[in-house]
Amino acid sequence: MRLFARAGGPLRGAIRPPGDKSISHRALLFGALARGETEIEGLLEGADVLATARALRALGAEISGGAGRVWKVRAPKTWRSPPEPLDFGNSGTGARLTMGAVAGRLCTARFIGDASLSTRPMARVLDPLARMGANTQAGPGGRLPVMISGTAAPTPIKHESAIASAQVKSAVLLCGLHGDGWSEVIEPTPSRDHTERMVRAFGAEVETGPSGDGRWRAALHGPARLQGRRITVPADPSSAAFAAAAAALVEGSALTLEQVCLNPQRIGFFHAMQAMGADLSLEAQGDTGGGEPIGTIHIRAGAGLRAITPDPAGIAAFIDEVPILSVLAAFASGETRITGAGDLRHKESDRIAMTLAGLRACGVEAQELPDGLLIQGQGPRGVRGGAEIQTHGDHRIAMSFLVLGLAAQAPVEVDQADMIATSFPDFAGFMQSLGADIGSA
Ligand code: S3P
Repeated sequence: MRLFARAGGPLRGAIRPPGDKSISHRALLFGALARGETEIEGLLEGADVLATARALRALGAEISGGAGRVWKVRAPKTWRSPPEPLDFGNSGTGARLTMGAVAGRLCTARFIGDASLSTRPMARVLDPLARMGANTQAGPGGRLPVMISGTAAPTPIKHESAIASAQVKSAVLLCGLHGDGWSEVIEPTPSRDHTERMVRAFGAEVETGPSGDGRWRAALHGPARLQGRRITVPADPSSAAFAAAAAALVEGSALTLEQVCLNPQRIGFFHAMQAMGADLSLEAQGDTGGGEPIGTIHIRAGAGLRAITPDPAGIAAFIDEVPILSVLAAFASGETRITGAGDLRHKESDRIAMTLAGLRACGVEAQELPDGLLIQGQGPRGVRGGAEIQTHGDHRIAMSFLVLGLAAQAPVEVDQADMIATSFPDFAGFMQSLGADIGSA
């Protein structure tokens, strides 16, 4: 399916974006590891999360739900070894977190995925899991297909990760659930901490804080006895980002985004918008009961945005939002310099290269840096658009350039819009309901 977006009327309304993808994967996983029943309200029913649900069923979990109903999860007595490979589709989070869980159980599973996931590095997870005692095998270059035979008695380790990665951290902590002692991960800067918050809510002992040498430490004490519970999944700030960006760019817009996860590790994009001069406010409204802060985001189109130079040390708090931030930078005045984002080359696509190519195709002057981008702002009405964007199957590239099309001089088309369903099942319908002119090309 191809989609187009073109300039039209303002975006207006109050709406709840779909459930958070990171929290949805974790709710299913911890439900499949806990005693008793876990109920999940607001689960993101996107392709990535559904792939995790299917994989956990194949490992023996009882999972029911769908069509917006409350999902219910029960762990098997013992995880079984699925005869067929577990297919995680496009989902790095589903694959890597489940690898951690399998590594700490007495079962064997084979992991596969789509063309994009099959190019992504898995050694970053497999190396620490092997040190914890799992038997691991990967395809050439440490990629999928991966085979893991877990151990019933994983060795707690201290893993020093070269990158801030919540997937690596979560895999080690998930494996460490059945270890005897503290499993620790040290990261250069803190990555998103949904695993730590949720596993604590399920009853595990977790420590987080500065490591004492300028880095960040997260540790979990095993063996942990998790108790099933009710989880409310807040709206995904990474999905909310597209609507917020569109509202900031399209004249006359006024939007309220409700029940959004305001976890400090996830809202770097909204702070960046404020630094660019966007008329945006965050209104905290308590938490979900499972340790995640939620609130409302208000955005109004403003006079114009200015360029920024985000601190590379804070990049983990908006790593998935760099493509949409780059789109905002294209409409700003001045040069935006994004650095410290080298890991973007290993996401669903090489997001530095894909963002650069898309911006250039739309008439925006931009340059590639090894770990980021330099973008010359064209001003609020200065972006030409009028291009067909090659998304290489990357949902966030597709949504970012559709938002660009809403404020550009000429419409933008994306070549493959089906992948948007991995994280934002009805993106076009959602944006249309706010007044955006997005449709099938
Ligand atoms: C995620 C972690 C991030 C992010 C991804 C989701 C998670 O990756 O890019 O979309 O849910 O743990 P890292 O492992 O690089 O932090």
